[in-house]
Amino acid sequence: MHIPPDTVSLRDYERRFHERVDAGIRGYIAGAAADGITQRENQAAFERIRLLPRVLADLSQATASRSLFGETLRHPILIAPTAYHKLVHPEGELAVARAASLTHTWMVVSTLASVTLEEIARASVASAAPLWFQLYVQPRAQDTFSLIGRAEQAGYRAIVVTVDAVVSGIRNVEQRAGFRLPDDVSAVNLAGFPANEPVVANDGSPVFRGLLRGAPTWSEIEAICRQTALPVILKGILNPCDVEPAIRAGASGIIVSNHGGRTLDTVPATIDCLAAVVAQVAGRVPVLLDGGVRRGTDIVKAIALGASAVLVGQPILHALAVGGLPGVAHMLTLLQTELEAAMALMGCPTLDAITVESIAAGRPG
Ligand code: FNR
Ligand code: LAC
Repeated sequence: MHIPPDTVSLRDYERRFHERVDAGIRGYIAGAAADGITQRENQAAFERIRLLPRVLADLSQATASRSLFGETLRHPILIAPTAYHKLVHPEGELAVARAASLTHTWMVVSTLASVTLEEIARASVASAAPLWFQLYVQPRAQDTFSLIGRAEQAGYRAIVVTVDAVVSGIRNVEQRAGFRLPDDVSAVNLAGFPANEPVVANDGSPVFRGLLRGAPTWSEIEAICRQTALPVILKGILNPCDVEPAIRAGASGIIVSNHGGRTLDTVPATIDCLAAVVAQVAGRVPVLLDGGVRRGTDIVKAIALGASAVLVGQPILHALAVGGLPGVAHMLTLLQTELEAAMALMGCPTLDAITVESIAAGRPG
């Protein structure tokens, strides 16, 4: 795989990805729900925010690291869980896990990974970059708990329960592109579990009576939090009204996410939902954000509005498709470098120095 020398930003990887990858797979990876309004808005909302730097700060001790769940995170950038990495590279999640370790980036491994969670753990260096496991609650409780037990056994450090995708979104882009999973790519971690095929019920609604059979509620989240000693982080919260139930259920963290615009279309950009969620949380648990993060300056904006860290989804797959392991490591290094440059130019020697005062529109008057 050849990474052209003019690949100098995440958007360059995205462009190359579109040049090189076939239409069906692009339809799945880049495809948003319905009209793509939320997916576009995730990036547009970041672009609307203006930064307001300070000058002449002492940067001699500057660092982008911070502590999260008791461990040191070198840069506040994690790999979001995305399904089926083998769609774009034969080594799939193994290449991403190795790139994550090389760049000290924490990786969230999807339930729908195309490599087993145990093999991914073996490919990664836990002391360099911890792994978290993203859980899709399964229709049978025993299957859910078996996944959690396997993740604990394999040394994963947190369970990220995705709560914004009780059914798949209306994936028109993917449908138009005629995407189908190739025979050699599958959700290997679910092997042996009963297939959760949509069943058309008597009243004719495949959604409400079929797909939702396994959809979790707050009581499943409580049961998961009781079951595991690992921190349980809920991914996909946008509405501050869901903060109290999340904390009451035992969540140790929240990820403000709209699934990259792939589930419910026309919800707001995550960066526009962040401040209200952070205010409601009031420091009790860390709040992370994903959706549309493509620049170091986007990360500064998310930190300014109260995120502890951000996650990136699509850019990982773009870089994996274009450059394999070196591509992912390069892409993550670009983002880390952009963040450090932005902090220096903002006059912020630490992440804590980035506050709401760092944003032009965030200032009164
Ligand atoms: C995802 N996402 C996702 N989320 C999750 O919890 N489990 C999953 O298996 C997947 N799978 C998945 C596949 C693909 C191809 C994409 C693009 C996304 C959502 C992901 O974790 C994250 O929320 C978004 O990707 C963040 O937005 P950006 O960074 O892609 O703009
Ligand atoms: C997706 C599912 C797998 O977004 O979360 O494609």
